[in-house]
Amino acid sequence: MKEQLLQLLEEARKSLSSATSVQEVEEVRIAFLGKKGQLTALMKGMGSLSKEERPVIGKVANEVRTEVEQGILSRKEELKKAVLEQKLENEKIDVTRDGVFVKRGKLHPLTKVLRQLEDVFIGMGFSIAEGPEVETVFNNFDALNSPKDHPARSTSDTFYITEDLLLRTHTSPVQIRAMQSMEPPIKIISPGRCFRFDELDATHSPMFHQLEGLVIDKNITMADLKGTLDMMAKLIFGEHTKTKFRPHHFPFTEPSAEVDVSCFKCGGEGCRVCGNSGWIEILGCGMVHPRVLKNCGIDPEQYSGFAFGMGIDRMAMLKMEIDDIRLFFENDMRFINQF
Ligand code: DAH
Repeated sequence: MKEQLLQLLEEARKSLSSATSVQEVEEVRIAFLGKKGQLTALMKGMGSLSKEERPVIGKVANEVRTEVEQGILSRKEELKKAVLEQKLENEKIDVTRDGVFVKRGKLHPLTKVLRQLEDVFIGMGFSIAEGPEVETVFNNFDALNSPKDHPARSTSDTFYITEDLLLRTHTSPVQIRAMQSMEPPIKIISPGRCFRFDELDATHSPMFHQLEGLVIDKNITMADLKGTLDMMAKLIFGEHTKTKFRPHHFPFTEPSAEVDVSCFKCGGEGCRVCGNSGWIEILGCGMVHPRVLKNCGIDPEQYSGFAFGMGIDRMAMLKMEIDDIRLFFENDMRFINQF
């Protein structure tokens, strides 16, 4: 019987060492020590032993039982520890690893200048109107009093889509849309993309940006126009900026003017930025032509207004001293990151 006990011990050891989970160890315990287990069965047979044998075998049986019990406990511990270690290994954080750098985006220089302009005009009570980039020839030219033989209308200047549709050559058609859809008083600005058949070079791009302005109300005079644009110039280029209104011609305004600002770089002394003249041209403007008002169903006897249009790209190039318009559209981060 002693041999049977020792053999059982040997089997228990083997089963325990090949158990790979706490559950399997539990199965070993039931197989050996459970009510119907092998060791339990052997011990039940002790009754048939002689008086001399019983204490000897009993001692061996107890030792075997104790060893199996301890083997079970320590194997369970071992396996639990292994599970924990695996878990810790999986969740390990390497505090010496490099951080993950989040690349911060930047506003495009054109967006920056546009936002400054919008802030200035919104501050003066303007709201923002939008118009489509594909316009009717009527809104882009006819309604703006540009006659059929105007050079701007030629196919060498303008991208036509059909005979009646084109890529707008300026933001001025938004004036027409605004006057046709709103009742005066009207006070809007409208920034957006424009297109002309221009050869791409440092100062020309077939796609560029303008900001249009329009004010229509009773008793609007050239003084309102001058006051508004003078205020804008001071807010954008600095409080000491002066403005100069030079007579000009636009078909849709009468009188018309071009506006220069005193050079924000040299203050008027003459430098590279202003081409030594002390002045920088920034926009075209004028009092809305009575014929344009009529074209939009507004009575010129009752209402008057002013309009202006400026190049946003040009404005940004001046302010940020960028000497090539192409840089705006090449999306080279080395350029954009400088602003
Ligand atoms: N549309 C003109 C251009 O593209 C700019 C302009 C001039 C707009 C006078 C106006 C204006 O609203 O009154 O050159």
